[in-house]
Amino acid sequence: MVHPEDKKMVNSLINHLADSDLEEIVRVEKNTWPADWQAPIEKFKARIAKFPQGAIGVFENGNLVGVSTSMRINFDPNTTSDYHKTWDQITGDGFIATHEPDGNTLYVVSVGVQKESQGNGYGQRLVAKQFELAKNLGCECLMLGARLPKFRESLSRQDINPDSLSATELIQKAQGYLDSKRNDGLRQEPEIRFYEKCGLKVLKLTDPNFGPDPESCNFGVIMLAEI
Ligand SMILES: CC(C)(COP(=O)(O)OP(=O)(O)OC[C@H]1O[C@@H](n2cnc3c(N)ncnc32)[C@H](O)[C@@H]1OP(=O)(O)O)[C@@H](O)C(=O)NCCC(=O)NCCS
Repeated sequence: MVHPEDKKMVNSLINHLADSDLEEIVRVEKNTWPADWQAPIEKFKARIAKFPQGAIGVFENGNLVGVSTSMRINFDPNTTSDYHKTWDQITGDGFIATHEPDGNTLYVVSVGVQKESQGNGYGQRLVAKQFELAKNLGCECLMLGARLPKFRESLSRQDINPDSLSATELIQKAQGYLDSKRNDGLRQEPEIRFYEKCGLKVLKLTDPNFGPDPESCNFGVIMLAEI
């Protein structure tokens, strides 16, 4: 439950979003993602029920503008099958029934800041709060599966149709795109740049089935930080 006094504070960060915040959470979700990508209220309700500590909101002038959710998993860097899981498999289709209460790793399920509030540092503050939670819980790592939302666009700027590439060529293109940097040495891809700024490191490109995610040509990027 969000404390009413906290809501009055400008830009205050609130931990433990509750069922009473669900309507606001759904409003933020709608202002963050296109229709196909919005998680329904049931998924947020399930995440809050299963792991309330991981449901974090950022408020601007008393209004919720960003939400992040997380869960715990047991991740073993030496178990190669862990690298081939899809987002749906890891998160139980976003309902986090797969949450492991004693998991060694805090897995960030979602980070979203509504469009009109993006670029003000709220996303970084949400991830920082997840880092703090991971530390307080004694987790060894913080982990997430990032998207490559500008990958398909970058191919089409080069007049490349991803459907015309072989599986091997597509993986090479995705790896090349992930590795590409701007003149300032930061990643070309804004989402990876964002998570690196938050303190995560690129571990591995996933298989091309991480999500149904046309913008990323279904690739994801496993990102990890040791705590
Ligand atoms: C990605 C996101 C959470 C960042 O939150 P934010 O409050 O805008 O981010 P901050 O102000 O803390 O940091 C800005 C950085 O975020 C990244 N960013 C900004 N807009 C973005 C977008 N639409 N998509 C992906 N990354 C974005 C950029 O790296 C930017 O840094 P830059 O100014 O050097 O380009 C937010 O833009 C968002 O919710 N986007 C849509 C949903 C999404 O892609 N969520 C993350 C994947 S699950």
